[in-house]
Amino acid sequence: MSNTYIPIQMKVERIEIEDPDKALRTFDLVFVNEEDKKNFEYMPGQFCEWSLLGLGESPFGIASSPTETDFLRFTVSRTGSVTNEIHYLREGDTIGIRGPMGNWYPVEKFKGGNVVIIGGGFAFTTLRSLIVYMLEHREDYGDITVIYGARAPELFIYKDEISEWQKRDDIDIQLTIDNPADGWDGRTGFVPAVTKEIAPSTENTWVVVCGPPIMIKFTLPVLSELKFADDRIYTSLERRMKCGIGKCGRCNIGSKYICIDGPVFSLAELKKIPEAF
Ligand SMILES: Cc1cc2nc3c(=O)[nH]c(=O)nc-3n(C[C@H](O)[C@H](O)[C@H](O)COP(=O)(O)OP(=O)(O)OC[C@H]3O[C@@H](n4cnc5c(N)ncnc54)[C@H](O)[C@@H]3O)c2cc1C
Ligand code: FES
Repeated sequence: MSNTYIPIQMKVERIEIEDPDKALRTFDLVFVNEEDKKNFEYMPGQFCEWSLLGLGESPFGIASSPTETDFLRFTVSRTGSVTNEIHYLREGDTIGIRGPMGNWYPVEKFKGGNVVIIGGGFAFTTLRSLIVYMLEHREDYGDITVIYGARAPELFIYKDEISEWQKRDDIDIQLTIDNPADGWDGRTGFVPAVTKEIAPSTENTWVVVCGPPIMIKFTLPVLSELKFADDRIYTSLERRMKCGIGKCGRCNIGSKYICIDGPVFSLAELKKIPEAF
């Protein structure tokens, strides 16, 4: 990226509605300029600021994997002014993004190890990026286990793709919903309890946890109880952001700026920042 302040022009190529309330939409964006496409290099866990003229900017995790070179994918939950306007976008519209920003899941460190991915709700975005990336480099990783929870079956995102992953024998997908529901024959229970039940082996295993703050708060102690070391557990933090490049001071916790030092941190790092919890 040549100038971090100047948004890159992107065209909305595909929109998919993910939930019955139409509050979650997935956008596939393509680069308007070939040069921008060539210069845009990212890794799973990074995010972009979407710029909407006259309204402002909002950060969103990149849900596509760097191995998917033709588009960038994002899933946006409608929560306020910027996200509401994003939900009015139609296929063919153009928007600006700045990025890629932040650090990423340490996929190089994970090589040769087993990886447990724990996700909740629509925060599954960057976890999708990580899963697709590891499946594309399957020989580099040991067992891949995914524990993914949603309030109800219809609230899982990327349902078709998850069904495809469930058919594979090189990835273990464990889905759970909060309470029993008609037609659901999978697990029920909150993600921390299900993680405890599954009790993944700690041997040469890395864990990535991403989801609503409450889920993260209750899952981290379970992982410690299962004897995962703090430096083997990674999570991604969400904070209000503005510039995304460490200039405005909006996103700091203690001495760390989530936009440049994060959003990905190990539990060992977070324990040195008491305000993180
Ligand atoms: C690194 C990062 C990655 C993110 N990835 C995604 C993603 O993939 N998909 C997605 O839908 N959202 C994601 N978010 C959250 C998203 O940026 C906010 O929901 C969005 O900026 C809200 O903008 P708004 O103008 O629509 O809402 P506002 O009108 O600004 O606020 C509406 C409500 O949302 C709350 N809110 C706003 N921003 C945040 C935030 N960062 N964290 C928690 N609560 C917030 C406000 O307190 C308020 O209650 C991410 C945030 C960060 C920092
Ligand atoms: S968002 Fe401005 S310093 Fe992090």
